[in-house]
Amino acid sequence: MPLPYSEIVMEHFRNPRNVGRIENPDGKAVEGSPACGDMVAVYLAVDPDSQRITDVKFESYGCASNIATGSIITELAKGKTLEEAKSITWKQASEALGGLPPIKTHCSVLAVDGLRAAIQNYRERHGLVKERVPTTVEVVRKRLKHVMNPMTGLDLVRTKIVRDIEVSGGKVRVAIDLPADHQFAANIREEILEKIEHLWDVDEVVIEFTE
Ligand code: FES
Repeated sequence: MPLPYSEIVMEHFRNPRNVGRIENPDGKAVEGSPACGDMVAVYLAVDPDSQRITDVKFESYGCASNIATGSIITELAKGKTLEEAKSITWKQASEALGGLPPIKTHCSVLAVDGLRAAIQNYRERHGLVKERVPTTVEVVRKRLKHVMNPMTGLDLVRTKIVRDIEVSGGKVRVAIDLPADHQFAANIREEILEKIEHLWDVDEVVIEFTE
């Protein structure tokens, strides 16, 4: 049975706005959904003086709802300040799309989470995070739950390939159960670095592939 997508959803799905990536973005995030294993990447260009989003692009590895939501939230976010863009909710996105089937809620949540994570990434890169929680093994593990294992579409922690995490004196060491020459090793390394290296009290991140 076809899902009852609105005309607006179908239009954004067929002609998504702001698809692609920004080279050397000011903020970036890749978020995955445990519900379906799909991913969305969001890239930001930000004017440092006004804190306004001058450009935003997304790549979706999700379904029609996810693509349509990525399209609408990037349209909503462009030109807004980071603070304004952070408060865009999935409800607003869903309303702007003329509604989404309830079974597809997680797809729009994923796109909105991607935007928020990219904003957070900008703040971390630029030392703008006020709530300075010390980085612990648990903090690192939580972040690794947002790094996808491309072999399974689930995150690194769920797929049990994080062998070890150590945090001491500004240095974080993560051991991953994969051969260093694995086809996804470079990609996984890059995603882990993105999530960990901008934490305010982290000076060095060492990622070891240990299989
Ligand atoms: Fe995975 Fe929609 S089903 S993003």
